Amino acid sequence: MRLKHLLSGIFFAVFLYAQSQPTSVKNLDRKADSVLKKMTLDEKIGQLNQLSIEFATGTQGAKNLSLEDMVKKGQVGSFLNTQNLAYKIKLQKIAVTQSRMKIPLLFALDVIHGYKVVFPIPLAQSCSWDLQAIEKAERVAAEMATAHGTHWTFAPMMDVGRDPRWGRVMEGSGEDPWLGAKIAEARVKGFQGNDLSKHNTILACAKHFAGYGFVESGKEYNTVEMSERELRETVLPPFKAACEAGIGTFMNAFNTISAVPATGNKRLVKDILKDEWGFKGFVVSDWASITEMINHGVAKDTADVAALAMNNQSSDMDMESMAYLKKLKQLVQEGKVSEAYIDDACRRILKMKFALGLFDDPYRYFDAKRAEASLKNPAYKEAARDVARKSMVLLKNDGNILPLKKDLKSVAIIGPFAHGKRDRDYMSFWTFGAEQKEVVTLSEGVRAKVSKNTQIVTDSACGWMGDCTDEGIQRGVNLAKNAEVIILAVGENGERNGEARSRTDINLPGNQKKLIEEILKLGKPTVAVLFNGRPLTLAWEYNNLPAILEAWQPGTQAGNAVADVLFGDYNPSGKLTMSFPLNLGQIPVYYNHLNTGRPQTKPFEMWKTGYADSPNEPLFPFGYGLSYTQFSYSNLSLSASEITAADTLQVSVNITNAGTVAGEEVAQLYIRDWVADVARPVKQLKGFQKIMLQPGESKKVTFKITVEDLKYWNHQLVYKADPGEFSAMVGPNSRDVSETKFYLK
Ligand code: NOJ
Repeated sequence: MRLKHLLSGIFFAVFLYAQSQPTSVKNLDRKADSVLKKMTLDEKIGQLNQLSIEFATGTQGAKNLSLEDMVKKGQVGSFLNTQNLAYKIKLQKIAVTQSRMKIPLLFALDVIHGYKVVFPIPLAQSCSWDLQAIEKAERVAAEMATAHGTHWTFAPMMDVGRDPRWGRVMEGSGEDPWLGAKIAEARVKGFQGNDLSKHNTILACAKHFAGYGFVESGKEYNTVEMSERELRETVLPPFKAACEAGIGTFMNAFNTISAVPATGNKRLVKDILKDEWGFKGFVVSDWASITEMINHGVAKDTADVAALAMNNQSSDMDMESMAYLKKLKQLVQEGKVSEAYIDDACRRILKMKFALGLFDDPYRYFDAKRAEASLKNPAYKEAARDVARKSMVLLKNDGNILPLKKDLKSVAIIGPFAHGKRDRDYMSFWTFGAEQKEVVTLSEGVRAKVSKNTQIVTDSACGWMGDCTDEGIQRGVNLAKNAEVIILAVGENGERNGEARSRTDINLPGNQKKLIEEILKLGKPTVAVLFNGRPLTLAWEYNNLPAILEAWQPGTQAGNAVADVLFGDYNPSGKLTMSFPLNLGQIPVYYNHLNTGRPQTKPFEMWKTGYADSPNEPLFPFGYGLSYTQFSYSNLSLSASEITAADTLQVSVNITNAGTVAGEEVAQLYIRDWVADVARPVKQLKGFQKIMLQPGESKKVTFKITVEDLKYWNHQLVYKADPGEFSAMVGPNSRDVSETKFYLK
């Protein structure tokens, strides 16, 4: 009788579990298994192999191979790096008609900030603090890229970054894990929608798992040393959010973490991602990162690394190194790798192919007409313009020099970004598919904005890399000297940031400073617009220029979006998601640091944590950004001074638009846990609200705090909240906050 009860209990539990799985997941498993069971070991290994079509690695990549032959033999599961639609169709046809198993190919590309129509770089987008706009940007990117036969994008990158020397911060969402998690979720929704099988949704990839944003000295591909506690606290939250949002793939990182390469890291990928978080998709290596484990010194040869990555179940698909293709079969035969691991990796990949609907229609995403139309689609252009102006951050505006009048008599636009149509003037190098001729330059954007009678003179004065000759500077000065207003278009182009573009000097490149100095000598109203992909050291510029607008790399609609802001058709509302250091020596400088045993109470305080030659504060803190109006904060209040773990605390503040134009404000909520099991950050972002206020209008903004917001990873890796005292802080940025305290019982 007891046994009967026990059995029916188990049966019921299994039944409940099965019910709790989304039908799609159950079906995908079943479908993948129905294919898997018919596959030979060679064919399974073939599915794990991904090759690059263009930019192949000469020695080991596709250059010396007959790709078509390999597809026929079932030796390739996926390709990356091609935009040649006709060739993709050709390869797909071979896969589904001439290979034995007829498994469709998966085509991948780095669709990082838009496609034909280019959006602002991801770091810029994050400064909009507008999750809907960000989701929409990825939706549009998916629409464009899928039409061109891209099934899978290697985005979003969700590496938290505190070091602007690292060139890849342009691809992330800044320094905060909480905001990074919200943005990761929005991007996944934008790319994948709620049905991956639709012709216009794209498979997304959470990268780089994990820790890549913390490469020592900001040096590209360098080492990462970090405890698991810090990893969970700072690095993993965006990845976990992406996993919970149903992202289909993850990508390994190039780096080691605590001396273990991420690509062969069982603890990270198998234990945390696959088992603890229940990730059902597949993990792709980064470019040849499986064989790079030989250089890391954790394996001696190709067979060794293939066994390491497969036995640790840390990399399901091998991007470009061919280690799996070359070695896995032999390793299985020698009993060094279990075929069950290969089955698991292959099943994961097949599931995503089913999810995309490729087995139903392998040609679903090849639509030349739709691809061509996407470039001209006015709605896409408008979306790109909208996100671009929302991403811009007003850093300084002395004497309200901005916004400019549209009926200026004359305006001079001087600097390397004045009117360039060169590739990567206004966008990063991650812009395969971009149509340069569609880019609206700054001069064109201003021309479209000002009155017909306004005279515009423009000169780049400097070369592309910011190399300004004396002659060029003189030309610029001569042109500018009669202008009513001067716009300086300076910064770093898309060749200066991104992968493999770390820098030890993050001043304005070249001698653009000299150009600024000479222009300022004219004594004219001068506004600098910065086009760049990382925080720069701008102390001199800040002290000398009356107005600075951070425009980032805004994409196709650059000129229009900047002109919208400069001439007041859009009141800037962006706030920095990465601190701008005062000087290079401060790096890494970030708002959510620990207190230390000797916190400074004022700059230069001796025997306290700090420098003898620099304040600790960055030039612009996290969350900072100005508007053409002023917002005042008052009446910070709490719904209770004490809460239990079951309560929701309300934190309210009144915000008033004290200026004369309508504007949007991003109000930010931070907390501090005063006594915990481990040292806690002096501030942690836990909420924000972006609100529109008319001149003179006030609104009460209310944030909610629950016990979930108070939890942290303690030294035993338990995620919990401690009873005790907390602060709630609200303000327009991470520095200028009002504070109140409450207790968790
Ligand atoms: C290497 C980069 O680290 C990764 O982000 C990118 O997706 C791959 N190359 C493919 O291009």
